[in-house]
Amino acid sequence: MDKLIINGGKPLAGTVTISGAKNSAVALIPAALLADGPVVIENLPRIQDVDIYHELLREMGADVLFEEDWMEIDGRLMKLMLMPNGRIKKLRASYYLWGALLAKFGEAQVGLPGGCDLGPRPVDLHIKGFEAMGAEVENKNGVMTIRAKRGRLQGARIYLDLVSVGATINIMLAASKADGVTIIENAAREPEIVDVATLLNNMGANIKGAGTDVIRVQGVERLRGCRHTIIPDRIEAGTYMIAAAATNGNVLVENVIPKHLESLTAKLREIGAQVMEMDDCIQVMGRDSYRSIDVKTSPYPGFPTDLQQPITTLLTLAKGSSIVTDNIYSSRFRHVDELRRMGATLKVEGRSAVIEGGSKLNGAKVVASDLRAGAALFIAGLATSGTTELEGLEHIDRGYENLVGKLQTLGADVIRVGLQHTESPQR
Ligand code: EPZ
Repeated sequence: MDKLIINGGKPLAGTVTISGAKNSAVALIPAALLADGPVVIENLPRIQDVDIYHELLREMGADVLFEEDWMEIDGRLMKLMLMPNGRIKKLRASYYLWGALLAKFGEAQVGLPGGCDLGPRPVDLHIKGFEAMGAEVENKNGVMTIRAKRGRLQGARIYLDLVSVGATINIMLAASKADGVTIIENAAREPEIVDVATLLNNMGANIKGAGTDVIRVQGVERLRGCRHTIIPDRIEAGTYMIAAAATNGNVLVENVIPKHLESLTAKLREIGAQVMEMDDCIQVMGRDSYRSIDVKTSPYPGFPTDLQQPITTLLTLAKGSSIVTDNIYSSRFRHVDELRRMGATLKVEGRSAVIEGGSKLNGAKVVASDLRAGAALFIAGLATSGTTELEGLEHIDRGYENLVGKLQTLGADVIRVGLQHTESPQR
């Protein structure tokens, strides 16, 4: 079992380059299967979810070339097959295969994604969309079997009862080759949705309104190959911004779209950090004392739930008490106990973490239970002057490319020990 050994207390300083967005990549790869020719996706993050997709696509008979940070996908020869449950369970966002295979073959048989550590991951809104478009859905023994009753989905008007990134993207995928027009109302507006719509439109789809709460998809007969560059990962970028503030550092976070980080920038300034936005980078300068503030997560462009755990760590260092409320996931607080082991004073009340600031964190042995809890804990390790041992790296490897290398480039005293791969300072 790998672990990070972090000797913290050193301000992060220097430049970190952000990778392509994980939450785009896991949707763009299945989307590429819809083309009648090769699709090249560039700026792919080298993370576990991408590696798993690479293996899955090859198993399904797609031609896949995967080098460095680009993947060429040609789905013309792939066969419809039951997606094995095993590996699928490791891939949280395997549900995008439902929409992609429905559009390509008119049917899909894929294992349900693993229950996330944020609690159950309901997919009722995905199913509501597919059924509205004329699909029959059967959920048996952990396998989702979905078939278009007339062989091809029909356009439909779909209202999403909850703002859902996954359901919005999945319905967009399925609708791209349906017969007729699909309107998605109360759609999510995340940048990753716009990224997927951009790829599909470059393939010849007819999608309007991505990034707003109403998306109109005119189904087309064929989609063609093209080339696409993934947008930067705003959550990875936000994680390094918070780490810079938590270590009283001075970090230039480059290859970002500042507009995608406006809510975090505003909160970091409220807390007292200095944040300078430039065209494609953001400079964060910390200070040795912060104001306590309240944070409430909401769908984009609100404060992202994926940064709720990392900013909680920062707020344990601020003077006074803060309240962090997660309105998206009610049980995304498994980092709280681990932060308390490091000396923080905070507790969970309903959907909120109530933080009594001014903690002096100390090093400890801690375990990450999910991807962003891991981020909260490595930030805490960097901020404390002790030695922290962090396990649960299988979660962190899903969302942070070359984490140790990037942190070492910023001057952090961190190493990874164990049997898995080693990482090198940022290229
Ligand atoms: C995406 O998950 C992200 N994952 C998550 O990031 C992110 O936290 C989440 O969006 C919210 O921004 C990927 O993009 C791969 P949702 P997704 O559907 O699409 C409920 C990370 O750390 N809901 O927007 O699964 C759901 O329970 C990961 O990178 C239903 O009730 O999230 C949640 O409360 C973690 N029924 C809310 O909606 C449904 O059918 C928003 O979920 C679907 C969702």
